[in-house]
Amino acid sequence: MIMWGGATAASQYEGGFDKKKGIDTQDCRPYLPRNSNATMQTRLLTKQVIQESKDEESKLYYPFRVGTKGYEYVEEDLNLLKELGIQIYRFSLSWARLFPKGIEEKPDMEGVQYYDQIFEFCKQNNIKIFLTMNHYAVPLYLVENYGGWTNRNMIRYYLNFANFVFERWGSYVDYWLPFNEINAGYFSPYNGTGLIKPESEGYDMQKVFESLHHQFVANAKTIQLAKKLKVSGEFGAMISCFCYYPFTPKPEDNFKLVKEEQVNQWFCSDVLMKGKYPYYMDDFFEKNKVNLNITKDDKKVLSEFPCEFISFSYYSSSVVTTEEVEKTAGNLVITTKNPYLQASEWGWQIDAIGLRTTLNKVYDRYNCPVIIAENGFGAKDVLEKEQVHDLYRINYFDSHFNEIIKAEKEDKVDIRAYIAWGIIDIVSAGSCEMDKRYGVIYVDGDNEGNGTYRRYKKDSFYWYQDFIKKQTNKI
Ligand code: BG6
Repeated sequence: MIMWGGATAASQYEGGFDKKKGIDTQDCRPYLPRNSNATMQTRLLTKQVIQESKDEESKLYYPFRVGTKGYEYVEEDLNLLKELGIQIYRFSLSWARLFPKGIEEKPDMEGVQYYDQIFEFCKQNNIKIFLTMNHYAVPLYLVENYGGWTNRNMIRYYLNFANFVFERWGSYVDYWLPFNEINAGYFSPYNGTGLIKPESEGYDMQKVFESLHHQFVANAKTIQLAKKLKVSGEFGAMISCFCYYPFTPKPEDNFKLVKEEQVNQWFCSDVLMKGKYPYYMDDFFEKNKVNLNITKDDKKVLSEFPCEFISFSYYSSSVVTTEEVEKTAGNLVITTKNPYLQASEWGWQIDAIGLRTTLNKVYDRYNCPVIIAENGFGAKDVLEKEQVHDLYRINYFDSHFNEIIKAEKEDKVDIRAYIAWGIIDIVSAGSCEMDKRYGVIYVDGDNEGNGTYRRYKKDSFYWYQDFIKKQTNKI
């Protein structure tokens, strides 16, 4: 039976920046009005961006420092989630809230108590927990002083954080995720690993893959530590899935698809699920002059502690071609336009069957339980007379849920849970704005932090509530 749930992520939701929380990489990203280049600019972490973000005189607005004020509204929000009837809640911990610099031995207790109430609430109300230990944000101190994940010492700091999490909340969690969308480290290094980009050139591939390698080892060592401490729950890998189509049946398009899919989508989960680097990366590393220091110990821990379930985010599908044809946006990537699909206002192509296809592909590749860790429709909502009529979101859910049920019932994919992204409106991770909302719960805040931040149930709230009740035979 599939569990139906919802998700938030600390940096996009909590705010509470003044509560002794350390500054992290997401806190440095300003909101830039949407125009030609703004979205790309907000995704790049350069030394200059960091400097500007620390300037107290700066006129720029930093939305991740406010989120949607979850820190303040947590009690009300948890009660709303309970009323909605979700069976599983995915949330993440802010590393810098617990360990402001990332190097402290003991965590900040105010931060600990904030999370205590969430774990306790879920337990009392029989809501399963899918915990993302790290969703994109890296304490800035670690980035500035150690070079972030390019430095092997990060593994040690991460394990210290993990050790505390296991000791405090080890018995509360059902599904553990050490890293959100691990493949983002490649296609969006700032988000994925908090990597600083040189001012004038692109990302250094050597650093990108070194960072990822250290995350892989941290992931395996985290599982090793959990097993040693006899922590309950299962450990998973998560990737962003793109469901690629070749633009034409031309063999060149299809071959290009295979190559892109390998590096963009499968590489990281292949390492974490199969416990070793896949063959196809040898050629990629050679061509990109990447030379990794993979020690004997790294190989051992990777092979001994693979992940136990696979999870993924899926919003839209992508198209691959060797030709120059019209492009559109996707989840942190640019893709070719698919003439058969409609797209959201942000250019993300809506493809419910693509989700069923992805479920089949992922299950076939790893042959273990699958969780849809993120899915949903980012749209502009209008609050009028305390109501939001978001039929477009209901339609998106409806079409995608039908395909999930077919994947389970007809295709026999072992699906554990479906988790709706940004179940309460949160700041967009890709474009740092509030305009792009996913929630079934509306939060009255705008791109620049104006608003009451009061919560309102959208039409999709009642629709999802009813859907969950039907699925669980409560009506
Ligand atoms: C995923 C991330 O890539 O996509 C989330 O894990 C993010 O953090 C989600 O919010 C949707 O992307 P966006 O850019 O619309 O917020």
